[in-house]
Amino acid sequence: MITIKDKQFEPFIHHEQIAERVTALAQKLNADYTGRNPILLTILNGAFMFAADLVRQLDFDHEIQFTKLSSYDGMDTTGKVTELIGLSADIKDRDIIIVEDIIDTGTTMYHLLPKLKERGAKSIEIAALLMKPGKLTKPLQVKYCAMEIPNEFIVGYGLDYDGLGRNYKSIYVVKEN
Ligand code: IMP
Ligand code: MG
Repeated sequence: MITIKDKQFEPFIHHEQIAERVTALAQKLNADYTGRNPILLTILNGAFMFAADLVRQLDFDHEIQFTKLSSYDGMDTTGKVTELIGLSADIKDRDIIIVEDIIDTGTTMYHLLPKLKERGAKSIEIAALLMKPGKLTKPLQVKYCAMEIPNEFIVGYGLDYDGLGRNYKSIYVVKEN
């Protein structure tokens, strides 16, 4: 059990299981992207750890870019997406793989996808560590997803509660009391 600010969290997904699922996802990307030199567009802050583990297992040429988007405040989505660091790279005619920590309502991705299309991306796919299908409110195709979870708030492996808890190598779920 861990405590972050006013909340307690209990073990949910062990780091060994995360590693297995990330490896399986990397293998799918390896099968699909050879010879295409895609841009892996990593969404800060939450996806930094997932991206670091993922790219070390990719065996095709690729470039890594970052953008920082924010939609969550504490344990809830605000429904609005704020761009805190923009994407400066030229993405015209490029294959894009968005690397995201977790798809919750889908608002963040729904905001980002048209912007990438407008800038002339050749193809856009989403690679997400986690997804909460029960909370999705937008029509989103997530071609690469490592794990699906129920509608619970989690921390660890890059994901935070109020800025804290990103450092844990396993994932923890909030304990309702
Ligand atoms: P969406 O825009 O509602 O899909 O929310 C996606 C963003 O909210 C993710 O990139 C995360 O940063 C954050 N988020 C969603 N669910 C959780 C969670 O359970 N723990 C921590 N962050 C979360
Ligand atoms: Mg995020």
